[in-house]
Amino acid sequence: MRLMIVGQLEGYISAAGKIALQRGAKVIHCEDTIEALGALRNGKGADVVMCDIKQKIGQLVDDLEKERIHVPVVACGIGTDSRSAVKAIEQGAKEYIPLPPDADLIAAILEAVTEESNTMIASDPAMKQVMELAEKIAPSEATVLITGESGTGKEVMSSFIHRKSKRKDAPFIAINCAAIPENLLESELFGHEKGAFTGATARRIGKFEEANGGTLLLDEISEMHPSLQAKLLRVLQEKEITRIGNNEPVKVNVRIIATSNRNLEQSVQKGEFREDLYFRLNVVNIRLPSLRERPGDIVELAQFFTDKYAEANGVETKKISAEAENKLKAYGWRGNIRELENTMHRAILISLEKEIEAEAIHIQDSAFSQGTSSGGGEANAPDPNGVGSAGEKASNDVQNTGAVEALVGKTIADVERDMIINTLDHCLGNRTHAAKILGISIRTLRNKLNQYNDDGAAIPKAG
Ligand SMILES: Nc1ncnc2c1ncn2[C@@H]1O[C@H](COP(=O)(O)OP(=O)(O)OP(=O)(O)O)[C@@H](O)[C@H]1O
Ligand SMILES: [Mg+2]
Repeated sequence: MRLMIVGQLEGYISAAGKIALQRGAKVIHCEDTIEALGALRNGKGADVVMCDIKQKIGQLVDDLEKERIHVPVVACGIGTDSRSAVKAIEQGAKEYIPLPPDADLIAAILEAVTEESNTMIASDPAMKQVMELAEKIAPSEATVLITGESGTGKEVMSSFIHRKSKRKDAPFIAINCAAIPENLLESELFGHEKGAFTGATARRIGKFEEANGGTLLLDEISEMHPSLQAKLLRVLQEKEITRIGNNEPVKVNVRIIATSNRNLEQSVQKGEFREDLYFRLNVVNIRLPSLRERPGDIVELAQFFTDKYAEANGVETKKISAEAENKLKAYGWRGNIRELENTMHRAILISLEKEIEAEAIHIQDSAFSQGTSSGGGEANAPDPNGVGSAGEKASNDVQNTGAVEALVGKTIADVERDMIINTLDHCLGNRTHAAKILGISIRTLRNKLNQYNDDGAAIPKAG
């Protein structure tokens, strides 16, 4: 993790920096927010910025947002002056750290803000095999394409490969090709010069240069526009980039890992993804099994998330009861590990018994559920990833007819609303995850939610 400390912090800097270093972070120091902004523009990236409360935190947060530099800012100041803490949070700081720094607090905050998760649970034989392949190819320089349904762990696998590679001490930079508007993605990747386009207020280094010497994760590459795919292919072949508004190519040395939750071969066939780029990326393919294909991991993962969220919420952790285990094992987990994680987060918060009871495991058994509690197979919900098996689906259509009949009498709009709100609730209000599970774009989800909100429906808040 890379930590940027901004300001003087009255001599506490070195103490805070030292704690962070001991926890394995790389620390950069900037005198003020202007220097900090400059360093971030120049590709000296950070995973978290710790900023003295005396600095212009609001201005920094605004500038970062304007320039789409995504990094959480944490405020710190002497003592527990609650007024300045509140002010910093109001100005957009994610957290407030009182000084002098407390080692555990710094560690906890760094962890919480960056949500770094390196644990890889892989006891099921299907997953063990995948881990063996990953270990084997990690030290090579090969480009890796990681595929798998939404929530199967593509991002954690990418960082695992980086950590096991020769590049582990160099940066690991991730960019989500689906989350960045099409017209801005090119500048995010390759950088731009001041004035290259409206809004380019300063020169900015792109992710390729930031990742130099290390690994660049192109997350959800299937969503990249064909014209940019062509540019990317050229960059991979020539190993040099050109910033927008500049003609001088810059040599870059990065290892590429790409992920996709769509079937890229199908995208190639449909003409949506360039075949030459597909072959260039797919030197090694790691296909992550869905949670249904690795049932041996369900209980271990569930206990892991229970412990994790018990600790994060400051409550005692609990064992999972036998009955709850059975319920977990019988479910279809269309949203995979992420869905299991959300389910266990909720379960530890609402469980009333000594062991987590089956009732605390909230999974949907209705027609639009993501699996069948009776059959344990796939649901008849549309497959957002286009990677399900048609045969399996057909048999489940039969299993689910009872549930579908129960919907007779409702309008499609009603069913759609309930399905969207229930899914969002299940994802603890996380819109990105809900949209993925539903197989619709985040924009569509937002529009629908606005409409339901106007109609007076209760919309789950992000939490
Ligand atoms: N093997 C594992 N052991 C423990 N936790 C895991 C494992 N795999 C994934 N997770 C956790 O599951 C969640 C989803 O993983 P991740 O974000 O890597 O999935 P993804 O495939 O990239 O999902 P998406 O397609 O939605 O982007 C994360 O919180 C991650 O830490
Ligand atoms: Mg991902």
